[in-house]
Amino acid sequence: MAVAFPSAAQSTIDQRIEGYLSQMTLEEKVKMVTRNANTWSYSGCERLGIPDFTCHDGPHGVRDSSRRPSTAFPSTAARGAAFDRDLSYRLGVAEGKAFLAAGWDMRLGNCVDVNRHPFFGRASESAGEDPYLCAEIGVAGILGTQDTGCIANVKHLILNTREDERFRKNNQAIIDERSLIEIYGFPFMEAVQKGNAWSMMTAHSRVNGLHSTDNPFVLKTLLREYWGFRYFVLNDWSSVNDIINQREGTVADVFNAGHDLETNTTNYRDHLADEVRAGRVLMERLDEAAGRVLRVLLLSGLVDGRKPGDPRDYGASSHNALCREAAQKSIVLLKNENNILPLSKSGTIALIGPNVAVLPIDARGSALVNPIYTVTPLQAFSTVAPEASLLYARGCDVNSERTDGFEEALRIAAKADVVVFVGGLDANQEGESQDRASGSSRLPGQQQHLINRLSEVNPNIVVTVISGGVCSLADCIDNIDGLLYAFYPGQEGGSALADVVFGHINPAGRMPVTMPKRDGQLPPFDDDHRNHIVGVGYRWFDTQSIEPQFAFGFGLSYTTFKYRNIRISSAETTADQPITVSIEVENTGDLAGDEVVQLYLRDVEASVIMPPKQLRGFERVHLQPGETQTVEFDITAQALSFWDVESKAFMVEAGDFVAMVGGSSDNLPLEAALRIKEPYFVPRPEPLPEVIPAPYTGPYPMDIEASSPMFRMEATDFDHASAGLTPHKGGIVLKSGDWIGFDAIDLGSWLNFVEIRSGASASGCVLEVRLGGPDGRFIGSFEAPNTSMDTTKGTNVGTSDYGAFGVHDLYIVHRDDGDPDAVVVVDYWEIEKEIGLFLIND
Ligand code: GLC
Repeated sequence: MAVAFPSAAQSTIDQRIEGYLSQMTLEEKVKMVTRNANTWSYSGCERLGIPDFTCHDGPHGVRDSSRRPSTAFPSTAARGAAFDRDLSYRLGVAEGKAFLAAGWDMRLGNCVDVNRHPFFGRASESAGEDPYLCAEIGVAGILGTQDTGCIANVKHLILNTREDERFRKNNQAIIDERSLIEIYGFPFMEAVQKGNAWSMMTAHSRVNGLHSTDNPFVLKTLLREYWGFRYFVLNDWSSVNDIINQREGTVADVFNAGHDLETNTTNYRDHLADEVRAGRVLMERLDEAAGRVLRVLLLSGLVDGRKPGDPRDYGASSHNALCREAAQKSIVLLKNENNILPLSKSGTIALIGPNVAVLPIDARGSALVNPIYTVTPLQAFSTVAPEASLLYARGCDVNSERTDGFEEALRIAAKADVVVFVGGLDANQEGESQDRASGSSRLPGQQQHLINRLSEVNPNIVVTVISGGVCSLADCIDNIDGLLYAFYPGQEGGSALADVVFGHINPAGRMPVTMPKRDGQLPPFDDDHRNHIVGVGYRWFDTQSIEPQFAFGFGLSYTTFKYRNIRISSAETTADQPITVSIEVENTGDLAGDEVVQLYLRDVEASVIMPPKQLRGFERVHLQPGETQTVEFDITAQALSFWDVESKAFMVEAGDFVAMVGGSSDNLPLEAALRIKEPYFVPRPEPLPEVIPAPYTGPYPMDIEASSPMFRMEATDFDHASAGLTPHKGGIVLKSGDWIGFDAIDLGSWLNFVEIRSGASASGCVLEVRLGGPDGRFIGSFEAPNTSMDTTKGTNVGTSDYGAFGVHDLYIVHRDDGDPDAVVVVDYWEIEKEIGLFLIND
């Protein structure tokens, strides 16, 4: 099959690909579309100088199967709430750098799935319920990631809309073409056409009968023919196997459907060459798939030599600062009765709730990052407001019905000037393979009940909800004065929350989803996706005339804004002409702040079903008090169009449209009429240029040795020790049960090993390494060499399995084996720690 949009500029890259393929054997070509020995690594062709490449999850930082800690950036949902392309781009850059620094060439995690429903388990991996918002946030992140040379993998194509294990792999999703293309497909189309994403991951889901992974309509018609995707498609983990095991298709069927690179399982590695020999797979098809992989390896610089990842980018402090900024920008202020917020830093604050002393980083599943650190609300409040007197009680769990913590919570609430409750969801309620466990959008467990009880003893109640999928609060909302929503805000979530609560930051996040009042307001959550043009998010609420608790795009500020003077460049025109609409927005309050100006369009005269309005533009602008800015939006033909199923193109119909502008989907004070004079078919955009970067010839930013420095301590320099220790020839003698302790040892971002130089008077003397105290956390042990007390020897104690990092008191303990005569002399110990860089696949 030909590349969808050939252009002259591509001849060099096409010639190089052809050159490589012409030299490859069948087996070498097959290797290019299969995984290596390791799930996370893929084969190149060593003989021709094409390197292997690697990948890992995920959407908000580097996940590592061995749970090595890394920076936990805010979730995709939080990025949606920030309505900020520039921020999403910068996060994409930081993540691309972190992936390269960790040794991963491809990031599985530019998520553009539309969040169709509060119950959707992977809501945290979606920028929200609106396709345009998902596309804009997604494209910016893809551009950022790929600008570093890291390959962006966009997922999950398509209709990854239910997560329960029962449904995510075996759903029977049905959908009409418009809903597929305009709602669920739109962000993927934009990822291709505006983000030039280098790879796609199929979803587990079926689409009108066939799994995405062996669905020619999805992989050929939609992705290649309609959208012009030039690069490779890999499958979600195990989906090739599932299809084959369930006898829904053979290896040849899946491959011939247009799926290129098999991840995780080895069907292609084991059978594809035979399928080609048997004529069930054509060599042209194998060339096509291998060629797509080669294309990406060339464009990302992997073949010719790419600038290597810089170890300092892993866990970089600049990334911590970016995490805080992003979390600040993503927090949504939903309610502020009597201007209860921002809080004063003096007085007594009762911090209550299950997410006060724990900061949930994400729902469960492959997106989850093991953070290097987190700042919980409890930690942050004491840092940001040291003058305040803080009281803390957990009060209740996220999920359980237990109320035994209420008493303590009520006791401290009664003593405080204000109560700040922090609750929400956790990984038990939602995530991969888990749609909302409670089966309801209600904030679960006893949380709402506790909020109501707290309001009986203290009228000043501020609530923060932290979750991926939105929670409804109808049972307690009337008793809340201040309400903040944080969509899993990343490792600095507590700091950002405190920044907003105490007014260091003026909040401007917006709801990327609609918050319902009650479950009865929600559309069904099943496999039927037909008519989702009017069935998802605000499109559903508007069409059904249902008033939600908080509308899509809603969010308050500590200042106020006024909109005026809408102007449209031409009120009657054709869709091929540039059309702009501009408005003025003024900060009418006393504080500087951001406003998210939103443009929605209504197609008044459509011949097909249409929602009352659709988001078609947004700009987040910063305004000083009294400042007015003009904000201008382009109204593109694409924005005015719908997918015409007859002509298989986006079409603008002649007729009337309305442009509506304001600060929330339910508050659009400005309107302008627009008349399109004649029908228009939107041309497919030209493909973005492909540029193979110049080979990198510069120095390595830092060599790997330097990033794993040794640190040495003499045993005699201990800070604490058991009683009565004696020195011996520069070392120290530990009898059975003795120990020595060293304060505040920096174990780096990962402790690889501890080397201890020792000599034992007898065999069977075991030295243990512990953290925090002589009975503290065990991180390794070894039998001291029985070399005599005068001849010590270094022994390497492997600690890397214990995941130790950060600063700890380190203890060396001679395990008490009851032998009073057995002694060990310890001369010194040394540690090898990693700073930033982790070597992968070594
Ligand atoms: C899963 C997820 C996918 C992830 C992959 C690898 O099945 O659905 O998002 O990237 O496994 O962990």
